[in-house]
Amino acid sequence: MQPLTLVLVGLLLLILAVVHLIKAFRAINDPNGIPGPTQIPYLGRIHDLPIQFMWVKFKEWADKYGQGGFYRTNMLGAEYIVVTDEKVAEDLLVKRAKYNSDRPVIRSLFDSKSTDGSMEYLPLMGHNQYWARQRKLSHSYLTEATKAHYYGVMYFEVQRWMARLIENPDDFQHSLEDMSSKVMCQLTWDDPSLSEYCTKSAWGLLRQMSPAGPITNVLTPLWHLPMFVNPWKRAERKRHDEQQAWWMERLLTCREMLAHGELRPCWTRQFLEKTSLKTNISGDYEASSVIGMLALVGIFTVVGPMSYWLVSMVHNPKWQEAVQREVDQVCGGRMPRLEDAPRLPILRACIKETMRWKPNVPTGVAHETEADDHYRGYFIPKGTRILPLDWCFLRNPVKYPDPDNFRPERWLEPGWPTYQEPLTQYPTIKGFTSFGWGQRQCLGMSLTQDELIVGCGALAWLFNLKRKRDPVTGQELPVPLDKSNSLLIIKPDPFQMAFEPRSEKRKMEALRLWRESEAKDFAKREQWLRNLREGKPNVIKEDKVPQPVVKVPSPTPAAAVPARLVKGTEETNGLSEKVVEEKGASVSGKAVGDVRKEADIRINIARLDSPLCR
Ligand code: HEM
Repeated sequence: MQPLTLVLVGLLLLILAVVHLIKAFRAINDPNGIPGPTQIPYLGRIHDLPIQFMWVKFKEWADKYGQGGFYRTNMLGAEYIVVTDEKVAEDLLVKRAKYNSDRPVIRSLFDSKSTDGSMEYLPLMGHNQYWARQRKLSHSYLTEATKAHYYGVMYFEVQRWMARLIENPDDFQHSLEDMSSKVMCQLTWDDPSLSEYCTKSAWGLLRQMSPAGPITNVLTPLWHLPMFVNPWKRAERKRHDEQQAWWMERLLTCREMLAHGELRPCWTRQFLEKTSLKTNISGDYEASSVIGMLALVGIFTVVGPMSYWLVSMVHNPKWQEAVQREVDQVCGGRMPRLEDAPRLPILRACIKETMRWKPNVPTGVAHETEADDHYRGYFIPKGTRILPLDWCFLRNPVKYPDPDNFRPERWLEPGWPTYQEPLTQYPTIKGFTSFGWGQRQCLGMSLTQDELIVGCGALAWLFNLKRKRDPVTGQELPVPLDKSNSLLIIKPDPFQMAFEPRSEKRKMEALRLWRESEAKDFAKREQWLRNLREGKPNVIKEDKVPQPVVKVPSPTPAAAVPARLVKGTEETNGLSEKVVEEKGASVSGKAVGDVRKEADIRINIARLDSPLCR
């Protein structure tokens, strides 16, 4: 071919390519379509969406394009609607849940949606038969455990954690993770010794499913390279097979123990004895997966808010004092228990505000549409991913004035948009946007709330949470507010802090409590085996949580509000006013459970802008 012909052909091809790109550009940036950042053909908006702190960029676009409550973007061909307003999330994910409850595929997992019947990861499954039956089973186990106060496991593990914090405070991030892992391992397999491996396995899966995990979650075509040049697929094969084998080993070990009468109550026992006959769970593989997945998901989810609790308390000492005072007055000097919760509104407010201020699933979890749809005049094609951007919901200044600051009073004082009565029930984290939407809403809300109440309550009872001083310079070490990983579920980066026991007496009491609980647990396990050897029946009785009859020194949790917030005292500085009302008879001397029914506590702090608790 002549050089001139070559040049002409090249030029023609170039013109064709440019025309094609212009057409593609126009198609992907339809001016009548849903608003959103300008998209580049084939890439979408992948080039300037950072992997780290992705939610911040999403929020930046939300402020620019999300005025109508949502905007659209595209990532390597995948269409996204990012929801920036709760009302739109309600419309799309709750009212239209019937066809908007599928999940997008996670490229770096094998069959993440269970389309091909792998049946492994309930939260990631498509809207299919496996999801339906596993959700039902998980829901019933979690509900039953909640009603039985987790058979005392939570108190036991939190007591262990307190003792570990006294003995080795610098190890707090590890011991916290281990605590929440031990709770889950006891509930699932009655074996806290499995916690270390279970935690490792949980982080392995979390990393694998996160956009900030393997590159194949972002540059998805790489996943399809042949196995021998595909290190990502090979690594995932190994991780996956090990995890599945471990889950199966747990089930088989439990079955063997059950056959010998050695297995005490736990979810696997419940499954093997009762549920297996009643559900359509297909067999051991599916059962071991649904139970294993429950154990995993309950670890990293709880670690996030509990870690941020530490950060919040260090940065907001006035609120720490308020929680401590409330806990002391309501619980009469003992560690808080779940039945105290109705009378601990400040504790609950600080927990909820921590989750609002530092949400641990800031991007939200995407749903995928299963049918073409129209919404507010816009066309939404089947297969669109709907991302309820929690970071944006929780930074909405209309619902949450002063959104960037830690303001627990928004849950305690009338006048704030989020205030709700009665304070015996509210604030509650149940139903919070952070737990997702519609048919896919989180199943662990009660467990999370309860574990946070017991865990954060125990911290308030026992410690002053403080900045640590550098042993050489004597300078306070920073506790960063904005350093975290960027996985789907986040937690703060490692930091240092101090756990100062509030008194020697409390410290000794915490150690005594743990010694006593550990000895009791050991004795119970021994007794179980002894009964077995001696042919005596092992009666399974749920550890009914004793309802302590506590003399409550002050009947009102409101008395635990920082004294300086009370109107008319010298310390108010004219900043705040508090009115406390309690309906019903005097509560002093009654069981706390009775108090719950009677008390309808209202705390009214009129001035909302008190700097005292900032
Ligand atoms: C702070 C703690 C937690 C947060 C923020 C959280 C958040 C979420 C979110 C955002 C979803 C997806 C919702 C959606 O797609 O709309 C979810 C699903 C789920 N969560 Fe949680 N979660 C937490 C704790 C837990 C715990 C402790 C458990 C259980 C032990 C749990 C079990 C589940 C399960 C099984 C699903 C899947 C539901 C489904 O796909 O149908 N979560 N969670």
